Amino acid sequence: MNKIYNCTGHTIQISNIVNSDGIYLFDDKKKRYMDLESGVWCTSIGHNNIRINNLIKKQIDSIMHAGFCYSNKILQESAESVLSITNFKKGKCVFLCSGSESIELARQISKHLTKKKMSMTLHDSYLGSYSGVTDRDKNWFLFNWEKCMHCPDKENCKTNCQKLQKIPNNVSEFIFEPGSSSGFVRFPPKSLIKNIANVVKGSGGKIIANEVTTGIGRTGKWFGYNHYQIEPDMIAIGKGIGNGYPVSITAINRQTIDQLEKSSFKYSQSHQNDPLGAAIVNEVIKTIKDDDLISKAKVIGNTFLKKLQTLKDGVKVIDVRGRGLMFAIDLCNEKTGDYIYQKLLDKGYIVCNRKSLFRIDPPLTINEDEFNSFFNDFRNILKSHQTNP
Ligand SMILES: Cc1ncc(COP(=O)(O)O)c(C=O)c1O
Repeated sequence: MNKIYNCTGHTIQISNIVNSDGIYLFDDKKKRYMDLESGVWCTSIGHNNIRINNLIKKQIDSIMHAGFCYSNKILQESAESVLSITNFKKGKCVFLCSGSESIELARQISKHLTKKKMSMTLHDSYLGSYSGVTDRDKNWFLFNWEKCMHCPDKENCKTNCQKLQKIPNNVSEFIFEPGSSSGFVRFPPKSLIKNIANVVKGSGGKIIANEVTTGIGRTGKWFGYNHYQIEPDMIAIGKGIGNGYPVSITAINRQTIDQLEKSSFKYSQSHQNDPLGAAIVNEVIKTIKDDDLISKAKVIGNTFLKKLQTLKDGVKVIDVRGRGLMFAIDLCNEKTGDYIYQKLLDKGYIVCNRKSLFRIDPPLTINEDEFNSFFNDFRNILKSHQTNP
C-alpha cells in the first residue's frame, strides 16, 4: 500500500524514477525521459551534475551542519558569490532551505522595519506554500494588472493612473514575481512595475524580488528583475540555486542591513546557514559562470522561442510566450492538453501540464539538438491530434 500522502494536487505519472543524467530521468525499465521541467524548476544545471555531486561528497566528509553559534568560512565565500551576482555588493545573505522560507523571511523583515501591515503583490503571482502568502483575504493588496496588459499606455505607464493611486500607503512590502512563472508565465510591462515600485518605496515600503523561479539565469539574465528598472531591497532565491538540493537565500541590501542591525529583529530555524547548502550554492554559481550559461540561456532561449512560435495556429496552439529558457504554450483546451501531455510522456518528454497550459523550463544546460528532438516530436504529435483526435 502506498504510504506517501500525496498532497501536492498532482497525480504521480511515473512511479519509479531510479536514475538521472543531465536533462534526462530514467525509470526502472530504463526508459529515458527528457525533463523539460527541471524537476520543479530546480535542476538548473542538470540532474546528477558531476561538479555538484563531487562537491557534496567532499563537503559531507567535513561538515554539513552546525549550531547557530558556530560558523564556517564557506558561508562567507558563498554569500560573497551570491552578492556578486546582485547589486548588493555590501549586503548580506541568510541561507535557508526553500523558496517559501526565503520569502517568509523577507516579509518578516519588511514588516518589522516598516511597521506597516499590508503586503502587496500582483494578482497572479505565486509566492510559496505558507498560509501567510496563500491566504490573501486579510492584509493583502493584490494589484490586478489584467487591464494593464491591454492599456494603450502600457509602454509608458502614467504615474497619475487611477490604478496606481489605489495602492494603499501602509504597504510593508511589494513582492514582485517577474514573470508569473508558476502561473501563466506573463511578463508585466516595465513602466508599470517601475511605477508600482516607486509608489511603494515612496511611502516607506520595501521591494522584494521573488526570484525563486526566475533567478540564476532562467530568463537569460541572472535575475528576472534585471529586465526591469527597479532596485529591490531584498531578493528571494531558491530552487535552481541548489540544483535539486533544498537550499535558498534571502539576499538583503546594505540599507536594509543597516536598519536591521539597529533593530531587535530575530529569525532562526534549525537549518539556517548550513555549510552544506552554502557550499552547493557557491558551486552552482561557479558552474553557471564557468559554462557561460546565462548568455547561453538568452541566445538559445530566443532560438527556441522562435521555433515554438511557429506552432501557433490559433486552433490547437493559441499562444506561445517566453523569456530566456522559460516558456509557456497555451493550448486550446484541457482535453487537448491532457492528450498531448500523455503522448509526449509516451515518447519520453516531461513538460509541465497545467490544464490547457504547458510550461517548459529545461535545465540551462540543454543544447539545440536536444531541444530540436523535443520540438519535432511535439510538432508531429500536434499534427496527428488534428487528423486523429
Ligand atoms: C515563483 C515561486 N515562488 C516561490 C515558490 C516557493 O518555493 P518552494 O516550493 O521551494 O518553497 C515557488 C515554488 O514553486 C515559486 O514557483
